[in-house]
Amino acid sequence: MSKAARSFIALVIVAAVGAAWIGSRRQPLLAYPAALLTLGAVYLLGYHVGKRRWIRRLAQRRGRPARDPVVDGFHRLYYDSMVFAQTSWLGTPALKCPLDLWVYQEIIQELRPDVIVETGTASGGSAHFLAAICDLVGHGEIVTVDIEENPSRPQHPMITYLRGSSTDEAILNQVRQRVRGRGRVLVILDSDHHKAYVLAELAAYSQFVTPDSYLIVEDTNLGHPVRPDFGPGPMEAVGEFLAERRDFSRDRSREKFFLTFNPGGYLRRLP
Ligand SMILES: C[S@@+](CC[C@H](N)C(=O)[O-])C[C@H]1O[C@@H](n2cnc3c(N)ncnc32)[C@H](O)[C@@H]1O
Repeated sequence: MSKAARSFIALVIVAAVGAAWIGSRRQPLLAYPAALLTLGAVYLLGYHVGKRRWIRRLAQRRGRPARDPVVDGFHRLYYDSMVFAQTSWLGTPALKCPLDLWVYQEIIQELRPDVIVETGTASGGSAHFLAAICDLVGHGEIVTVDIEENPSRPQHPMITYLRGSSTDEAILNQVRQRVRGRGRVLVILDSDHHKAYVLAELAAYSQFVTPDSYLIVEDTNLGHPVRPDFGPGPMEAVGEFLAERRDFSRDRSREKFFLTFNPGGYLRRLP
């Protein structure tokens, strides 16, 4: 249905509400249905005409997959087996769930980011995967930061390795230079997973994410449902970040494969 058609339907509803409201002044029993209709109309108007972001966000939550004991059980089985530590991309360890990598591939193909910034390189498997997808779509480059040096990381013309702590001003300056003036920037946070550090990264790296693009916070599954001993981590940091920031919202549609290491961690910057 086109936006014009939806707006027309919303206007018809508003007219109906007006009529019901006027009627309710003569007949008080009509006041309750009139109030309900008013709420529905406001919701539809906000969602379809798109002026009220909080209403749109409320509507988006309808797409949230329910927590399912089967999915959570499989998630624990998968995670506790540590198979993610035996997962590789073209021979380089990539500490990922392949279902998330497939989602990354879909996002890259859809958005064609100019720059993908990753914090937490480790062996370089995830950076190499991202570079390979950029290569296939013929666009993009990867900037990846790690506090540790590792000379055996894969070399690729689309990958730049930066060494240092991701929140150090010197590193942030280098990232800033790389993304300056670039049309579309995607950020993936996968370094230190403790809440305070993720919050610091969210504050520093959210500025680089361009409208409509993603800020992906990895391993929000820590404590939810795996590693109940972990303590406050990425999930808690995301909660605190979103409570302050109206320009990002969770995109639950990226959790369509049920198993993700990043539940509630696919944050989309609003247009
Ligand atoms: C989970 S691993 C990254 C996995 C990698 N992205 C992959 O999928 O294969 C976390 C990495 O973050 C790095 N790290 C930890 N603290 C960091 C910090 N303050 N700044 C940058 N990197 C950090 C660690 O050295 C480690 O290599």
